Formats: sequence, structure tokens, C-alpha cells
Amino acid sequence: MNIAVIGTGYVGLTTAVAFAHLGHDVTGIDIDHGRVEALNRGRCPIVEEGLPQVLAAGLDQSRLSFTTEAEACAAASIIFLCLPTPASPSGHPDLSAIEVACANISRVAAEGAIVVCKSTVAVGTNKKIQQWLGRSDLRVASNPEFLREGTALSDFLQPDRVVIGTTDAQAAEVLRLLYRDISDDINIVGLTEAELIKYAANAFLATKLSYVNEIARICAATDADSAAVLSGVGSDHRISAQFLNPGPGWGGSCFPKDTLALHHLALDLGLDAPVIGAAIESNDVHTAYVADAIDRLVDRKASPIAVWGLTFKAGTDDTRDSPAVAIVEKLLAMGHRVTAFDPEAQTTPAGAIRASTTHHATTGADLLVVLTEWADFAKADLRRVARHMRRPQAFDTRAVLDPAAAREAGLALLKTPMDTALASC
Ligand code: UDX
Repeated sequence: MNIAVIGTGYVGLTTAVAFAHLGHDVTGIDIDHGRVEALNRGRCPIVEEGLPQVLAAGLDQSRLSFTTEAEACAAASIIFLCLPTPASPSGHPDLSAIEVACANISRVAAEGAIVVCKSTVAVGTNKKIQQWLGRSDLRVASNPEFLREGTALSDFLQPDRVVIGTTDAQAAEVLRLLYRDISDDINIVGLTEAELIKYAANAFLATKLSYVNEIARICAATDADSAAVLSGVGSDHRISAQFLNPGPGWGGSCFPKDTLALHHLALDLGLDAPVIGAAIESNDVHTAYVADAIDRLVDRKASPIAVWGLTFKAGTDDTRDSPAVAIVEKLLAMGHRVTAFDPEAQTTPAGAIRASTTHHATTGADLLVVLTEWADFAKADLRRVARHMRRPQAFDTRAVLDPAAAREAGLALLKTPMDTALASC
């Protein structure tokens, strides 16, 4: 098929590259000249496992190209919308990029083309897309993405399920054919249902993690091993062991935005949704709890706190809505000095010192704090780390350091100060 993908961010680029890999002719369209030029030269602008190789193969086989010209979608029978929908100050997604793209598509699209929205959009947006296109021959479908950053390509090629929202039988059939080779679980639903599936899935996972982090706090205060508790909980298939790892809080470009949008939708509809609201509040409480716990472990005037990890999770260079960044900013506001190392993060919070290696970050530090679960942190030479710290102690929010190796190295793995609550009972 001839496919156009408008927007070459995480979702659009993965979609374009993956469809080319599956044998389709794909044109990626983006307003960013620099990005388009780099992509046409095979330079992948994001850290994403496997993507550079498949991008290069698509370009080599002339199945894939990138342009800034909206007119390029005239040749496509399927046009994917993969544009950003950032949260506006009111908490509702900002749909202006989608509206502009619809005006362009309306001008040039071939008769009968299918316009498929992959962006996460407010409920009712796909019906608006129909109006914004203003052409009765164009068919509209919603096809939400469930890609995780860091594993986006494999998530695309081996999805748990594909959701297609449309009321147009022909569009449903074409999209079913498009995905037939990569999924046996294709859910054809209405437009609104597809929009809600995306929000409900992300808000559910975020709620699960807020709950998990609350259990981890209770474990710390009762001197219980949270890994043992959560492993026992996750063995129940109804609960599942996935998304059961405590951390510094959930973040990234999707969970915070989507959970907030779903909560706002409920409020706009005059509905109480206390569970969704509490999941958001609980995540803020958790991030504050971690920062307070660190604060109580180190004298504010002492040597810098060493931080390992700034991205919102491992496998990405993305620091958008990263709990690690939020915690570093809280520590800086409290008056701590912070030296941070991350293997991929593009930015460092203002006021923190950027370290070039894990070792550089910890040398002379009073405390090591691990905030992102990079595999390399687990492989670090803890003896060397402990030897060069002023006080060899670590607070590991991601459980990446091996407790036995830390003990042998003389690096004390600290529990949170909340543990003392039990002792003083
Ligand atoms: C998410 C959804 O998983 C994906 O389906 C959707 O389409 C986009 O949003 P992503 O933002 O890439 O993907 O991140 P994800 O892997 O889901 O992690 C989200 C947050 O939860 C991260 O901050 C991560 O560190 C945290 N997390 C995840 C945990 O703290 N513990 C876990 O066990 C899993």
C-alpha cells in the first residue's frame, strides 16, 4: 500500500519505518526541515532500539522517504496522523496541529483515502476530524498506539492487540488487511470506543503503579521486603507481574498527560472519578516522599548528592515529565548540591552538575541516588564507587544495584527514613 505518515516523532517515525519494513511504500511528512533532512540521510533523531537499522534499510530499498511537503499525501491511500497533542494549561489536549493537518489533507488527498488518527486525542476528536476534513469521500479511523519508548519498534511489530475505531466498513477492512500479518487480535470498534481504550489503558497502568508505589512505602515503614511482597502479589494472573516495579514515580510523555486528560473528561461530564484523581495525586505524593527521604539522609551543606539516571525510564533519551528530573529539582530547591549522570538524557536540570560518567558523579559524594533503571548501573564497579565516595551509601529507587555486590563493596544500601517509623512505634 502507499502510506503517508504525518508527524515523525516517536510514534510517527516508528509507524513509518515499521510499515516500510513490512513492505509498504511510505512517505513521512514533517514541518521540521532539519529533521526531514537528517532522516533522509538515515540519521535517527531518537534513541530507540533497532530503529536506526530499519530506517536505513527502508531508505536503501527506496520504500521510505521524508518530506516537508504536505502535498506528498496526495499519492497515499492511507494517511496516518501522528502529531503531538500536548496538554494545554486547562489539562485538555491541544489539537491545533491535527486541525492544521486536516486542512492540508482536505486540499490534496486522493478520492476515498483513509485518514487514520494515531495521536492520543480527546474523546470526540475523531468526529471533529471528519468535520475538519470536510470531504464526504474521505474515510476516518482511529488507531491508537500502545508503543513504549525504548521498545517502540518491537511493540509495533508484535502488538498485544490492534485497536481500529471506525464506522466505515471499507476502512475497517483495509486496516484489518494492513495489520493482518502482525496481529491476530484486531479489535474493530467505534471511534469513541477507540479513543477511550487508549486513555483507559494508560490510566489503568498509571493507577497500578501509584498503588505499587504506595505498597512499597508501606513495606519500607514495616521493614518488609517490597520485592518479595510484590512478587507474591504479581503471581496472581488476575493481577500479573508486569508493571509491578516500584520506582521514583511514573512519568514520560504519555501517562501524566493521558491520566490527566481522562480525569478532566470525567469532570467535564459532571462525573466523579476519585480513583483516577487519586492516582495522579498519589504519584505527586510519591515523588515528594522520595525527595524528602533523600533530604533526610544528607546534610544540605555536605558534599554533592550523586544521581544516576535522569530519563523517565531506561532505553530512552526522553526526560519529559521525568520523576528523576522532578526529584533532582526538589533537592536543588531544598539547597542540596547534585551531580547527575545519565547515559542518554539530552538535558540536565538547571543548577545540577552534569557528570560524564557514573564514577565522575559519585567521586566525593555523600550519597548515591539511583533514579533510572539503566542496565549499566547494575554493572558498575561498586568497589570503585564506594572507595571514592565521601560516605559510601546509596539509595536505590529502582532496585538495580545488587545488594550482595553492594555489601561486599562496602556500599551501604539505605532504606528510607520511614523505616524508623516502625522502630519508634
Ligand atoms: C506508555 C504506555 O506503556 C504505552 O502503551 C503508551 O502508548 C505510551 O505510554 P511509555 O510512556 O513509553 O509508554 O512508558 P512505560 O514503559 O509505560 O512507563 C511509564 C512510566 O512508568 C515510566 O516512568 C516507568 O519508569 C514507570 N514504570 C513502568 C514503573 O515505575 N514501574 C514499572 O513496573 C513499569
